[in-house]
Amino acid sequence: MSDDSQGGSAARPLKVDGVDVDLGGVRILRGVTFDVRPGEVFGIVGPNGAGKTTILNVIDGVVRPSAGTVRYGDVDLSRVRPHRMRDHGIGRSLQSTHYFRDLTALQLVALGELPNSVAGALRFRGHRKRREAEKAARHTAMDVLEQFGLTQYANRPLSELSSAVQKLVDIARAVVSGGELLLLDEPTSGVSGHERGAIGEALRRLRTLGRTIVLIDHDPGFVTGNCDRLMAMNFGEVLDVGLPDEVMNSDAVKRSYLGEAADIDVEVEKSS
Ligand SMILES: Nc1ncnc2c1ncn2[C@@H]1O[C@H](COP(=O)(O)OP(=O)(O)OP(=O)(O)O)[C@@H](O)[C@H]1O
Ligand SMILES: [Mg+2]
Repeated sequence: MSDDSQGGSAARPLKVDGVDVDLGGVRILRGVTFDVRPGEVFGIVGPNGAGKTTILNVIDGVVRPSAGTVRYGDVDLSRVRPHRMRDHGIGRSLQSTHYFRDLTALQLVALGELPNSVAGALRFRGHRKRREAEKAARHTAMDVLEQFGLTQYANRPLSELSSAVQKLVDIARAVVSGGELLLLDEPTSGVSGHERGAIGEALRRLRTLGRTIVLIDHDPGFVTGNCDRLMAMNFGEVLDVGLPDEVMNSDAVKRSYLGEAADIDVEVEKSS
């Protein structure tokens, strides 16, 4: 059986168990173990270089672990190639949309729908089939932009849009590209305080639609207000997993992540 033929039903748990990652002779992740429950917003926090993005890279197959397993329901993700993750309901947002700044919002979201990415679309030999695929992609992309309240930005290049709108457009692309389990890398980076509410609102809407979200963010208020559970990590290891308040106030997190003298006062960001 090929790696791409593994199926699976909706609402599956993600189980990361004992994952080590070695890159360039350096151990980046060490024994990382956590579960994400179906339908929850699971936050990952930690200082720069803690290994947060590497975890998303392991989940979506960009980086292969040197030990441990990643399972999504009954699918062993280590056997799935990155460009086939969409077939298993896994979509990912980008830490930065900088390289796509000349694309319009519609074009970026449509990229998520093109079969097996742009490379896959280019495999179509006949022009007619390609045009049909592109038309279907644009149609789906418009639908999702509408669901996100972003229709007015459809034909504007990303470079003209605010950071918050760019992030929302990229989350829309992740929804289109996979949809069921969303891996979001710093959706509020570069987004001003008052615009973060719109991102939190989109996350909560996706959650009510039954999506499962794994979210990396540096903002304690944002993660505490928008995540069901949190995992804190440092130096490639898990420090703590639990309810956001408990994790952010745990001694291990204060000591290792926020510094010995940290006295954090988390102001919860949650729009009504
Ligand atoms: N391809 C690679 N080769 C070697 N080292 C790498 C590679 N990718 C990441 N690293 C290193 O792995 C560590 C973890 O990186 P990662 O990007 O996962 O951190 P992060 O927690 O996402 O940080 P940030 O908050 O800055 O985004 C860092 O020390 C980084 O320099
Ligand atoms: Mg990162």
